[in-house]
Amino acid sequence: MSLAARPKVELHLHLEGAAPPAFIRGLAQEKSLDLTGLFAPDGSYAIAGFRHFLKVYEAACTVLRTPEDYRRLTLAVLEESAASGVVYTEVFLSPDFCGGRDVAAWQEYLEAIREAAEAAGRRDGIVMRAIATAIRHQGPDRARETAVCAAETAGGFLTGFGLAGDESAGRPRDFRWAFDCAREAGLRLTAHAGEWGGPESVRDAIRDLGVERIGHGVRAIEDPVLVEEIAAAGIVLECCPGSNIALGLYPGWRDHPIDRLRARGVKVTVSTDDPPYFHTTMTHEYDRLAEAFGWDDGVFGEIELTSINAAFCDTSTRDTIVKRLEAA
Ligand code: ADE
Ligand code: ZN
Repeated sequence: MSLAARPKVELHLHLEGAAPPAFIRGLAQEKSLDLTGLFAPDGSYAIAGFRHFLKVYEAACTVLRTPEDYRRLTLAVLEESAASGVVYTEVFLSPDFCGGRDVAAWQEYLEAIREAAEAAGRRDGIVMRAIATAIRHQGPDRARETAVCAAETAGGFLTGFGLAGDESAGRPRDFRWAFDCAREAGLRLTAHAGEWGGPESVRDAIRDLGVERIGHGVRAIEDPVLVEEIAAAGIVLECCPGSNIALGLYPGWRDHPIDRLRARGVKVTVSTDDPPYFHTTMTHEYDRLAEAFGWDDGVFGEIELTSINAAFCDTSTRDTIVKRLEAA
């Protein structure tokens, strides 16, 4: 089977970050909003480094203003994912963008996204679950409000709570209340760490937030003891190699630590993060990993199983997806 045709499991995708640039431009045109400077001459998002990426990302989000916008966005994003063979996806949603952390408004956005996900499931066979996500550089107070939104809507479609944004802002322990609130509501936990921060950032997130998965986490490789601890604890890394390379964390695919982490027994998974920003898709990630590290069907099959076993879904959903992976 070709890598393109393999059924894939993606655990780390930001809904707004997956917005096709043409979709954002179209919405801006409908609303007569000016997005000058956001796009390169070829129509892709114009980004230069991590901080600038976050600025462009937030500027693009300003056109997303209603639950209906998010319904359309979800349909567009899941169509792209399904075209890359994704059969199960976990998507970061942010109450900061969806209703400004107001619980009633957030419920409306979440319902629109859930309905769109169901429609995409009927259309493309893809299954989606959502992870409500606080934005680190917005600070701990807003993260608390985000966690309350998440806790009020936990269960069913919304199965996780996460932390994204600028890793240099604050410390993981500043977000402990938010994570405790989400955990008590039954949500499963992940946090971005070890992308722009070093191994200590990963260690702090694991210790202070009690997460079972780490978004990125790849800079753990700089501390061999931490790598052993992560492997022993079974913590799963949501690796997004194309994202890391596009943002300049590593010069090329062969320099990316995913293969070395895997060789040391760490549970690694593969995702795209914000695919159009980084000119990637799940199939592109697979192709480049096969090329860089000689990964074959056996390795990808193992990674897909690791991913679905680490998914924030109920056992019956997991069993259904495992059957689809096994059938391929
Ligand atoms: N938000 C969207 N993509 C992100 C990334 N790669 N790191 C941190 N926050 C993000
Ligand atoms: Zn991310």
